[in-house]
Amino acid sequence: MIVLGISCFYHDSAICIMKDGEILFAGEEERFSRLKHDSQFPSLALRAGLDHCKIEADEIDKVIFYEKPFLTYERIFETIMELAPRSFSLFYDSLSKIIKNKLFIKSTLRKHLRKTLKNEDYVIEFCEHHYSHALSAFIPSEFEEAAILCIDGVGEWDTTTVWHGKDGVISKKYSINYPHSIGLFYSLFTEYCGFKANSGEYKMMGLAPYGEPIYVDIIKDNFIKVHEDGSIRLNTQNISADFRSDLVMSSLDKILGSKKRDSEDISQFYKDIASSVQQICEEVVEKMIIFALDKCNSKRICLAGGVALNCVANGKIAKKIGAENIWIQPAAGDNGGAIGAAMSGWNKKISNFRPTLGTQYSSEKIKNIIDSKSLKYQEASVDLIVNDIINKKVVAIFQGRMEFGPRALGNRSIIAKSAEPSMKALLNEKIKKREGFRPFAPIVLEKNMGKLFKDAYKSPFMLFTQYSIGNIYSATTHVDGSSRVQSVSEENGLVFDILNEYESRTTEQALVNTSFNIRGEPIVESPQNALDCFFDSGIDSLCLGDFYIRKSDNNKDFIFFESREFLKD
Ligand SMILES: [Fe+2]
Repeated sequence: MIVLGISCFYHDSAICIMKDGEILFAGEEERFSRLKHDSQFPSLALRAGLDHCKIEADEIDKVIFYEKPFLTYERIFETIMELAPRSFSLFYDSLSKIIKNKLFIKSTLRKHLRKTLKNEDYVIEFCEHHYSHALSAFIPSEFEEAAILCIDGVGEWDTTTVWHGKDGVISKKYSINYPHSIGLFYSLFTEYCGFKANSGEYKMMGLAPYGEPIYVDIIKDNFIKVHEDGSIRLNTQNISADFRSDLVMSSLDKILGSKKRDSEDISQFYKDIASSVQQICEEVVEKMIIFALDKCNSKRICLAGGVALNCVANGKIAKKIGAENIWIQPAAGDNGGAIGAAMSGWNKKISNFRPTLGTQYSSEKIKNIIDSKSLKYQEASVDLIVNDIINKKVVAIFQGRMEFGPRALGNRSIIAKSAEPSMKALLNEKIKKREGFRPFAPIVLEKNMGKLFKDAYKSPFMLFTQYSIGNIYSATTHVDGSSRVQSVSEENGLVFDILNEYESRTTEQALVNTSFNIRGEPIVESPQNALDCFFDSGIDSLCLGDFYIRKSDNNKDFIFFESREFLKD
């Protein structure tokens, strides 16, 4: 049976194609539409998925949507009634979107699917939002039995849920309902600190180590009550239950003090706020995990939902309950809901999950594109790449299948020297254009993790921060000594070979790995995207499949680098 899982119409739209319990393909719409966090129906990702799997459109048996829109409608309608008449603006904003896309969701889905799937014999089903998160965390995990904790902004009514998983089947044990949401709480403060909600949360997390948690008490007194079991109550007097941004911001200004917000030049006040909010988040997540383990009488936990991407909180939990007892879905946000939806009804575990589930391009296709632009290239080799890195060049890697989820894990990555004091500034100035306070992440061979990090453990999907021993890897070590490290094994292919060769020639054991994109743009998907990004940035060399292109070998006429405005992300 071929099943299509879909998540869309909120943010990070995605699809997943499963056949008899095997994930054949998963992809986010943003990679194809080139609109970051694209929320539209994922038509382009679907087309790419069908092509990749060589599946004919009429072979899809079932389509499963990652949410039950009627329950979402009920939640929004009740919130409106509770806050009327002030909530009429919410009525128009939210309900018009819902009516347009979700209320008549079956016909909306069929209308979009009709453009790609020629017949209409498939069945359309719906699964609860947190059920799809929970499946995406448990079914591909390494555990036969585990507690499952999903924490996000909101899905239908749920903001936090605990499930128990055993032998491929999950059952719900507990939930916290809207508006009491640690995810929405974190997003509000993300916006308060001048970042974009629903995408800037990882920047808040990166900002936190620069501050002191001196506002924890005042935030807890006025905005959030944290109970011993990790459950929370938001103070809806100060955080309006519809989370209307202008009202909440003025309430935060009134209680915490109005200060000029500027995400490019952040004052100490906002660093302290970030530190305080991060501390509260860590406290809640830790308590919830202990509660979930206890509730399910389990020793192991699986995590999903956007809050599960808080790798600082994850690192602290790993230390407490043992990293071997945690498994986190790398696409923990709503994109991963497409995977969970596709798994709905499967009721069996799947093994050997890897997040490299996207498109792949043949050597022939890549060569045709390179030749069409008359670019000079060499045959790619580990030797060429390592030579360039040693010479402090920045190398982009495009190989194998695209990663699904927010992290580039070596297939769509930019690699550079980490033990180089100027590298962070150079990467920011020439390529990433991002805020200077944010560190880059390292890749380290699994066998070397213990040499570089205290209490080290495997972290193949870059979901935990660990604390460095020493500080020679300056580009990838945060101000508090932490690193969001990816441990690399043979399964990672080229980056594994690069790290091995680099170590043998330099004795250095870490390199920078940052996603292959420039600020405001999604990670590159195609060879054309890769070439555009390469020539539109300060990247020195590009390993494009089997071909190695150096900017210095190519005539400047081919270089379309120009000064440009970067979208805020
Ligand atoms: Fe979610």
